[in-house]
Amino acid sequence: MFVFGGLSCLLDGVLSGLSAVTEQRHTQSLNGKWSLSNSNGSVSLPAEVPGSVHSALQQQGYIQDPYFRFNDASYRWIAFENWTYTTTFTVSAHLRGQQKVLLVFDGVDTVASVSLRGVLVGKTDNMFRRYDFSVRELLKDEDNVLEVTLLSPVFYASEQRKAHSAYSVPPECPPEVQKGECHVNFIRKEQSSFSWDWGPSFPTVGLWKEVRLEAFDVLHLIQASSVSLYNDSLSRWRVQVDLVVDAVQTTNCQITLSIPELDSEQSFQTQFFPGRSKNTFVLQINTGFQVKLWWPNGHGDQPFYHMTVKGFEDGLSILTTESKVYFRTVELVQEPIVGSPGLSFYFRINGKPVFLKGSNWIPAHAFQDQVTPAVLKNLLQSAVDANMNALRVWGGGVYEQDLFYSLCDELGIMVWQDFMFACAMYPAEDEYIQTVREEVIQQVQRLKSHPSVIIWSGNNENEAALATNWFHIPASQRPIYIKDYVMLYVNNIRKIVQEEDQSRPFLVSSPTNGAESEQEGWVAANPYDPHYGDTHFYSYGSDCWDWRTFPRTRFASEYGFQSWPSFSTLQPVSIQEDWSYDSNFTCHRQHHQAGNPQMLMQAAIHFHLPNSTDPLKRFTDTLYITQVAQAQCVKTQTEFYRRSRSEIIDGKGHTMGALYWQLNDIWQAPSWSSIEFGGKWKMLHYFARNFFAPVLPVGFEDNDTLFIYAVSDLNQDLKLRTVVTVYTWTDLDPVCTRKSDLVLVPAGSALAVFKQPVSTILDGCGHCTRLICLLTFHLEDASSVQQGPTNHHFLCSPKEAQGLLRPNITAKVQEDKTSFSITLHSDSVAPFVWLDVGNIPGKFSFNGFLMVSRNVTVTFNPWRTTSVTELTKSLTITSLMDVY
Ligand SMILES: *[C@@H]1O[C@H](CO)[C@@H](O)[C@H](O)[C@H]1NC(C)=O
Ligand SMILES: *[C@@H]1O[C@H](CO)[C@@H](O)[C@H](O)[C@H]1NC(C)=O
Ligand SMILES: *[C@@H]1O[C@H](CO)[C@@H](O)[C@H](O)[C@H]1NC(C)=O
Ligand SMILES: *[C@@H]1O[C@H](CO)[C@@H](O)[C@H](O)[C@H]1NC(C)=O
Ligand SMILES: *[C@@H]1O[C@H](CO)[C@@H](O)[C@H](O)[C@H]1NC(C)=O
Ligand SMILES: *[C@@H]1O[C@H](CO)[C@@H](O)[C@H](O)[C@H]1NC(C)=O
Ligand SMILES: *[C@@H]1O[C@H](CO)[C@@H](O)[C@H](O)[C@H]1NC(C)=O
Ligand SMILES: *[C@@H]1O[C@H](CO)[C@@H](O)[C@H](O)[C@H]1NC(C)=O
Repeated sequence: MFVFGGLSCLLDGVLSGLSAVTEQRHTQSLNGKWSLSNSNGSVSLPAEVPGSVHSALQQQGYIQDPYFRFNDASYRWIAFENWTYTTTFTVSAHLRGQQKVLLVFDGVDTVASVSLRGVLVGKTDNMFRRYDFSVRELLKDEDNVLEVTLLSPVFYASEQRKAHSAYSVPPECPPEVQKGECHVNFIRKEQSSFSWDWGPSFPTVGLWKEVRLEAFDVLHLIQASSVSLYNDSLSRWRVQVDLVVDAVQTTNCQITLSIPELDSEQSFQTQFFPGRSKNTFVLQINTGFQVKLWWPNGHGDQPFYHMTVKGFEDGLSILTTESKVYFRTVELVQEPIVGSPGLSFYFRINGKPVFLKGSNWIPAHAFQDQVTPAVLKNLLQSAVDANMNALRVWGGGVYEQDLFYSLCDELGIMVWQDFMFACAMYPAEDEYIQTVREEVIQQVQRLKSHPSVIIWSGNNENEAALATNWFHIPASQRPIYIKDYVMLYVNNIRKIVQEEDQSRPFLVSSPTNGAESEQEGWVAANPYDPHYGDTHFYSYGSDCWDWRTFPRTRFASEYGFQSWPSFSTLQPVSIQEDWSYDSNFTCHRQHHQAGNPQMLMQAAIHFHLPNSTDPLKRFTDTLYITQVAQAQCVKTQTEFYRRSRSEIIDGKGHTMGALYWQLNDIWQAPSWSSIEFGGKWKMLHYFARNFFAPVLPVGFEDNDTLFIYAVSDLNQDLKLRTVVTVYTWTDLDPVCTRKSDLVLVPAGSALAVFKQPVSTILDGCGHCTRLICLLTFHLEDASSVQQGPTNHHFLCSPKEAQGLLRPNITAKVQEDKTSFSITLHSDSVAPFVWLDVGNIPGKFSFNGFLMVSRNVTVTFNPWRTTSVTELTKSLTITSLMDVY
């Protein structure tokens, strides 16, 4: 694999869409201040390109923060307008003197007519495509007026729907609770921009990526990409390089590929014919070298090599580019398992089975122009800090920017990349298919050099939508929809991907039964079958502390529970009257049907609900309790998946992936995320750091017997014993401890290391009963060194626990060399101790923890400058008993 363009350049924020350089190229950026107006000229303002209409309106003071209170509703009109971006530029004689000049748009959102000097040069209809138009003949030295007229996306979608009269392509509109726009499936645009169950409706309009002129005389490199491939029988690597070029005339060229560090170089005589062509060259890697492999986070490093590509015509350099090359293999293993019907479903990276631990990624902002490199780095670093090794880029958002994938390469985050289709049926007319084909070709060529991308997946939940008939399609019409489904995802997308990229697997949907779905004609009777493929599973009503309610799937690619973000995140977009759990604001922000009562119902299974007579305290306490409930739910479910990796029970198991829904937020609202809009970690994210730890003890009960599993993702075997410590809910001194024998825990496995009836554990342990006592446990090796985090197991719901006191926790903040330490003192056992420093950005070393010792020191790493005074002033400490 290699990635063109130096990362230093990316880190400077110079995100060139075209990351390779040819010597004959002359580029003129057209980014910067353009003017923007609506159709009748009543709104007219300067606008930044790249950018969006909403961002421009806000920057110029026409509108407030679109995220403030009910502004999503107030600003609906913006997406009903047509908008025109205009700029006037001069061109040097030198640039005009080139044989060919392209006007390049890296991204247009979405439906537009482009004219230069009053002449229509082209149209666009797909946000996910790069467009270029040949414009040399139209350019003059001065006064080149470039105009891009963008049609209202809502209007366009509805017109497309009307034109599609033969049969409906459901859903027509989103559920009312989402307060969104209709027919988003008729426009090739970020599907969640018309609203989602976690996000607002802001159907964006704009030039969301760079605009420029590219001029050249001989040859122009449009896109360079590569994949590294391993030949097992030869034990040999090769790097396959694709150069998409635009040649002005027939060009005889000598192409040389070389990786000096691997002493590998090869030259090829080739001819580029006029026009655009894709040319493939293969560099065989010298077998005398032990190639260093790229590994996922937690399994090894992410080394790369430098590669150069050079092209000469008659001894003159006409093409040169440098790149990074990574080496790794990926296999999706679907094969029979002894003792289980169905097929396995797991990833082998460099020949090694790897359990995928992580989450799902959604767009980081409704306005993509506001997703800065800092935002991406912070979110991806937070994923790694929580011991994640994988993210699924979900199919209702966008193909992320180059920097996203470069960072994943460097951090060892495996990317499950969906194509951008979600929760809907889609048209399959020729015109629609054509624009999708171009989108898919471009995106695969852009992204395939990244080792982080380990799988392509055709869509989100559309197989399931058909199979379980979400849209009430009459049986008689079903064949039409299945035909369209196969046409789009199998005959087109899958076929293109398989031609373009042999270095990673392709799945048609998620969830899917994979090979079994294919057997069943691509739409399985039950795509959620735990014996095959991946599964999405949500269950809000049942007790999430009961692991029996979860399917023992091969691979959990979505599951989760909602919570509210913290008060400091909500405060900037709300006012005092909004700060109660049943305010209009609280209801407005909830886009999931009955989501707010659902969270309380789930919390009430195990906790008393906050009941302070102070309305603000009651509100913030309620936000807290939703985070506690969510963290505990996702912990229970994830631990269930991780401990199921090595066993088959009732034919089910061998779970090899846990990607909860969802990592990040698009705005300040309740959602399934573990990170709030702005980057603040919810309690769940702190829990994730523990439940995704490489070595983890998992405790659960089966028929009143406590089992403790050791889960290890390490490369080497361990010998571990369990230490169980019993406390009462009141007292910080343990009542007794129990230990298991040392057990061999093989590399990459999960197995029981402790098993005892709860009654046996409590017997002779003070006055312990289920209501009076609780357990913590950890793993240690033969020399009594703890391995992995300490975990806990409650023997009753905290709401039934006897002896819990208000712990009166005090704190002292001190400055260390690079961070701050907060030393806490407690008078009694305190569950779910939560430190919050308001809007001071940063992360704690741990948080939301069970405090069972008098003193605990937590480190705070700020993401900006702060002080002991500021932190001390902002710090609040909440534990469970503080909310009653
Ligand atoms: C221009 O269009 C806007 C929005 O469609 C409308 O509110 C306004 O009245 C129009 N102004 C004129 C001068 O026609
Ligand atoms: C936007 O343009 C379309 C096509 O020209 C037109 O039908 C529609 O009325 C325009 N909308 C507005 C708000 O001007
Ligand atoms: C590996 O190399 C052998 C010998 O050249 C060739 O026959 C085989 O097709 C190659 N395998 C792959 C997967 O390319
Ligand atoms: C809440 O919204 C309803 C309906 O829009 C409105 O009638 C009511 O006055 C609002 N209540 C408050 C407290 O703003
Ligand atoms: C728990 O009890 C159920 C029902 O009696 C039984 O099917 C199951 O095998 C038991 N589980 C264990 C681990 O003993
Ligand atoms: C905390 O303080 C309250 C009020 O002073 C007191 O009633 C309670 O017993 C204290 N808790 C502990 C654990 O000492
Ligand atoms: C624990 O904290 C208390 C109060 O801050 C302090 O007096 C005590 O010395 C600390 N104990 C230990 C063992 O650090
Ligand atoms: C609040 O709830 C707790 C726990 O149920 C209860 O003990 C307490 O009396 C309640 N307080 C008020 C003011 O209702």
